Amino acid sequence: MNEQNRGAVLVLNGSPRKNGVTSSILRMIAEEAGSAGARVEWVDVNSLSVRPCIGCLKCRPDKKCILPRDDGHRVGELIETCSALVVGTPTYWGNMSGTLKILFDRNVPAFEHYVLNTLRFPAPKHNGKKAAIITASLAPFPFNQLSSQSRGAIRAVKTVLNAGGFDIAGTINVPLPKEGAVIGQRWAAKAKALGRSLAGSVAIERNGSLQNNDEPAGGITR
Ligand SMILES: Cc1cc2nc3c(=O)[nH]c(=O)nc-3n(C[C@H](O)[C@H](O)[C@H](O)COP(=O)(O)O)c2cc1C
Repeated sequence: MNEQNRGAVLVLNGSPRKNGVTSSILRMIAEEAGSAGARVEWVDVNSLSVRPCIGCLKCRPDKKCILPRDDGHRVGELIETCSALVVGTPTYWGNMSGTLKILFDRNVPAFEHYVLNTLRFPAPKHNGKKAAIITASLAPFPFNQLSSQSRGAIRAVKTVLNAGGFDIAGTINVPLPKEGAVIGQRWAAKAKALGRSLAGSVAIERNGSLQNNDEPAGGITR
């Protein structure tokens, strides 16, 4: 178990566009959380190497995925031990991006304790932790509010985070900006407020040293 990540605000960037809307909003949240004293871990999901889940269910409950160790295992450990989680995704087909979905599929036990073939409900593992969800779409307001558009992306990420017991502190759903690529003040202000709120919810570890023997994956920034 990667205990070094305790106290961190973990940001999962599900957009391949590093200067796109999702990444830019996530950066605002991360910078604000960092300025408020939180330790931030940033993962560019698109830069990871994660094999898709093969559906064997051998990971349940609480076991390691049987696939050869890859970034899916590494990020799963960061998820298990983070103190707050921010998930950003562009809206693709009214859903989260495929790379993010693959990462979540590989990490069911990082979110919930689920015993197969019993009538017991899965038990969430992150009760009491805060999370935030960010998405961007080409659909302008109010069409982005349709469940077939970015509301669908938010709902899909919520399904995962709710299963984990996270308390969703806020969602940001950015429609096609009228001003082209410029992110409006409204969204920037909301992002900063979320960053401060998440920072306030975690234990602050200003001087925590990381001694993970595992090399950070390509998309993971510490
Ligand atoms: C494969 C793909 C599917 C998309 N599907 C949708 C969609 O269902 N609804 C929508 O409004 N925009 C859709 N878009 C547009 C993106 O959501 C939009 O460009 C968004 O701003 C990208 O976010 P980013 O700037 O964070 O990368 C799609 C884009 C791609 C590449």
